[in-house]
Amino acid sequence: MDTEPGVEFDGRRVTACERCPELVESRSRIVNGVGPDDADVVFVGEGPGATEDEEGEPFVGRSGSVLDEALRDAGLSRGDVRITNCVRCRPPENRDPTTEELGNCRGFLEAELRSVEPDVVVTLGKVPSQHLLERSVAVTKEAGSVHDLRLDGTTTRLLVSVHPAATLYDRSQREGFFETIAEAARLAGVRED
Ligand code: URA
Repeated sequence: MDTEPGVEFDGRRVTACERCPELVESRSRIVNGVGPDDADVVFVGEGPGATEDEEGEPFVGRSGSVLDEALRDAGLSRGDVRITNCVRCRPPENRDPTTEELGNCRGFLEAELRSVEPDVVVTLGKVPSQHLLERSVAVTKEAGSVHDLRLDGTTTRLLVSVHPAATLYDRSQREGFFETIAEAARLAGVRED
């Protein structure tokens, strides 16, 4: 990636960035993806919330607990997979990232995905699903669907999922969410049933 004043990025981790003025104000830190550099499955969320901003790791709050549970249920553990976000800085009041902010961070996400080369990318919720598929997505209806994700000459599979937080305010979404995570494990060849 070209060098840009104020931006430090090693192909997976951003250690300095001032592209989004509002997020520079609202964040406590930049929250990078975690997990193996050669993970078979990469989960992509929307952006850090309050707990992630505090702890510097994606999905470590309440949504993260649901994700951890679903991973265990699918025969995976957090250490087996990579977990990252569309934007790496917490938006104020946990609002959705703007189109401009998503665009500013997109190159980092794409470079991370190209470098990890997973078998499957799981988009957690509407924002990452729409961002990577580049179209409007009815996420509850399309959860479990598999698409080609083309990134600069390479193609990988993208599996649409609801956001784990959806299961906290609507318990009826829990079973479907767990099933989608199990499908991710199957697509990556980690689970056979
Ligand atoms: N929600 C997200 O989309 N990402 C996180 O890292 C935490 C909560």
